[in-house]
Amino acid sequence: MHHQSDTTDLAQFWEQHYAARDQVWSGRANAVLAETAAGLPPGRALDLGCGEGGDAVHLAAAGWHVTAVDVSATALARTRARAEAAGVAGSVTTERHDLSEYVPEGPFDLVSAQFLQTPIEFPRPLALRRAAEALALGGLLLVVDHGSAPSWSEGQGHHLDFLSPAALFASLDLDADRFEPARLDAPERESTGPNGERGTIVDTVVAVRRVH
Ligand SMILES: C[S@@+](CC[C@H](N)C(=O)[O-])C[C@H]1O[C@@H](n2cnc3c(N)ncnc32)[C@H](O)[C@@H]1O
Repeated sequence: MHHQSDTTDLAQFWEQHYAARDQVWSGRANAVLAETAAGLPPGRALDLGCGEGGDAVHLAAAGWHVTAVDVSATALARTRARAEAAGVAGSVTTERHDLSEYVPEGPFDLVSAQFLQTPIEFPRPLALRRAAEALALGGLLLVVDHGSAPSWSEGQGHHLDFLSPAALFASLDLDADRFEPARLDAPERESTGPNGERGTIVDTVVAVRRVH
């Protein structure tokens, strides 16, 4: 179910989501992000919808300077606490924005949007296009979406639409003269459910390089 909404509703939805539990996500970096960053020289990174900071702290520990953005103040507080605990607070800056309204200007060498998927609808392609504009020349935009429901959740009903990597790339509507696809694929990985269920899940991966 998708609701069209404003920043207040969006922030409220995600605040409630985070407030419901002390920790919502695993705290580990997302697999594709970790793998991608491992092949890049550390620089300036922008994490869009950073959640509790697993990726931001992973990047900072690897030498990146990270701007971590989320609409939820609770998520950002957890990101800062995680960065403190890891000894990288000096390399992680948190900023609270609704990405429908504002995207930090950069320049960034890596812009990452990991599962920036939400039942409260927002103009995500517009936000991702703005984020692509914030890339330094040669920089990489990495968008990873869920490409399937987890195999352990079969029959539970899901509301997400699963775009193919090519369709996701096309939806960004980037200027082909300045942005080139660097990776479009849908790898499968292991996934563990909330009650320890073992299974697999597909990631939809779109990486785009700014070439001009
Ligand atoms: C599914 S979570 C993913 C969190 C994190 N990237 C991860 O992989 O664990 C989506 C995150 O995006 C944030 N978010 C959703 N819509 C947003 C918007 N319009 N502006 C800023 N943050 C947003 C939510 O607060 C939430 O933390």
